[in-house]
Amino acid sequence: MLHLKRLLRVSNRSFLAFIFFFSLSTSCLYFIYVAPGLANTYLFMVQARGIMLRDNVRTIGHMIRLYTNKNSTLNGTDYPDGNNTSEYIAQPIAYLPDNFTYAPNLPCPEKLPSMKGVIDVNMTEITMDEIHQNFSKYLDIQPAGHWKPKDCKPRWKVAILIPFRNRHEHLPILFRHLIPMLQRQRLQFAFYVIEQGGTQPFNRAMLFNVGFKEAMKDLDWDCLVFHDVDHIPENDRNYYGCGQMPRHFAAKLDKYMYILPYNEFFGGVSGVTVEQFRKINGFPNAFWGWGGEDDDLWNRVHYAGFNVTRPEGDLGIYKSIPHHHRGEVQFLGRYKLLRYSKERQHLDGLNNLNYTPEITMGSLYKNITVNLTPELAPIEDY
Ligand SMILES: *[C@@H]1O[C@H](CO)[C@@H](O)[C@H](O)[C@H]1NC(C)=O
Ligand SMILES: *[C@@H]1O[C@H](CO)[C@@H](O)[C@H](O)[C@H]1NC(C)=O
Ligand SMILES: *[C@@H]1O[C@H](CO)[C@@H](O)[C@H](O)[C@H]1NC(C)=O
Ligand SMILES: *[C@@H]1O[C@H](CO)[C@@H](O)[C@H](O)[C@H]1NC(C)=O
Ligand SMILES: *[C@@H]1O[C@H](CO)[C@@H](O)[C@H](O)[C@H]1NC(C)=O
Ligand SMILES: *[C@@H]1O[C@H](CO)[C@@H](O)[C@H](O)[C@H]1NC(C)=O
Ligand SMILES: *[C@@H]1O[C@H](CO)[C@@H](O)[C@H](O)[C@H]1NC(C)=O
Ligand SMILES: *[C@@H]1O[C@H](CO)[C@@H](O)[C@H](O)[C@H]1NC(C)=O
Ligand SMILES: *[C@@H]1O[C@H](CO)[C@@H](O)[C@H](O)[C@H]1NC(C)=O
Repeated sequence: MLHLKRLLRVSNRSFLAFIFFFSLSTSCLYFIYVAPGLANTYLFMVQARGIMLRDNVRTIGHMIRLYTNKNSTLNGTDYPDGNNTSEYIAQPIAYLPDNFTYAPNLPCPEKLPSMKGVIDVNMTEITMDEIHQNFSKYLDIQPAGHWKPKDCKPRWKVAILIPFRNRHEHLPILFRHLIPMLQRQRLQFAFYVIEQGGTQPFNRAMLFNVGFKEAMKDLDWDCLVFHDVDHIPENDRNYYGCGQMPRHFAAKLDKYMYILPYNEFFGGVSGVTVEQFRKINGFPNAFWGWGGEDDDLWNRVHYAGFNVTRPEGDLGIYKSIPHHHRGEVQFLGRYKLLRYSKERQHLDGLNNLNYTPEITMGSLYKNITVNLTPELAPIEDY
């Protein structure tokens, strides 16, 4: 009897274990089949981290030092994390007083009194016409979205490149927030919406390369901002000028609970100077579908000897316009490509790109429509 009981207890326990593992595996299956986006994002982060670990042990060591030693020289460029980010904002950041007087022959300052901080984001859908009527009347926006300050010399000439497919309702929401913000920052700017035609998977990176080449035909821009259409900045002190180092503007996204998802994250909104972009041979053209191209850009930037800076504290916060991944496929070959970032950097990018654009002038942006195929960016095997 005792023997039987013991036997029963053991089998009870293994039965419980069975139930436990069964429910664990079904919840895993749930995530993979019912919420693939979530599972993919997670797997993506884990894998990307694994790949980057080997190459960036030094960077990570540096970040750890920054995290643990608050005494280190945080010069307002690197990303200071901590459980109380407001202490970094509370620091005396010298924004100029309201009575500051501008001079047309002097460069615009970077910390202007017009930059008040947090922006009220309004996600209500609105038509492009409404935005355009309002902005051309009150904000003096020129055709194709050109603007420059008149009361001082703009510090940067910024081309804003927006890759696009099928998100017509997002554009006016973005413009509504971005244009007033850039004017408050007294930057010279214009918008380039690069739309992918055809049926190939979305190639965000190649669209940026096309946008860059087309933008440079307009004007000698010196700063490029790569902007996703669904990312709305929430703080106008997130200065969209460039610097000595490539910059990652979208450090904290509401969809990642305002936490940097991983140190090498370079997606959403980033910026480089034209010089830096040429030096790294632009974006890779080989990433067809969702994911990976921003990690490759991170690698390119570091192989070229740059580090990435981010806005301090909570300046780099963004809201994402909610949407479903409408027919966007993810790029499964990205991990393999990421392993050979270095070898591909000088074979694939600005230097092997051909395309035939169809260009129309919008009221607030230049519309560059291209039909992309892999044959347009041939790459020899290595
Ligand atoms: C912190 O910085 C001060 C002044 O730069 C220095 O005297 C002090 O030794 C530093 N402390 C640590 C723990 O590094
Ligand atoms: C910090 O900034 C000051 C002034 O901008 C500069 O002189 C100094 O070299 C910077 N320090 C580091 C460690 O980057
Ligand atoms: C948060 O900051 C406080 C002091 O500012 C510190 O005592 C506490 O340990 C920190 N908590 C974590 C989790 O870092
Ligand atoms: C965060 O830092 C600010 C300024 O140093 C301080 O006033 C506030 O109490 C801190 N909050 C928390 C939760 O530690
Ligand atoms: C501008 O404002 C500051 C304080 O905000 C004041 O000290 C200064 O005198 C003012 N300057 C002028 C020219 O009004
Ligand atoms: C948001 O925008 C819509 C459309 O322009 C407007 O009707 C509404 O009042 C705005 N909401 C806020 C809170 O400003
Ligand atoms: C139109 O411009 C005015 C003045 O800048 C602003 O107050 C208003 O909110 C704008 N409306 C829209 C829909 O952007
Ligand atoms: C980039 O950061 C690393 C680690 O902090 C540092 O050793 C290196 O000198 C930096 N490179 C540049 C160009 O500042
Ligand atoms: C861009 O132009 C094409 C026609 O060339 C048009 O079909 C498309 O809707 C336009 N896209 C945007 C975002 O304006």
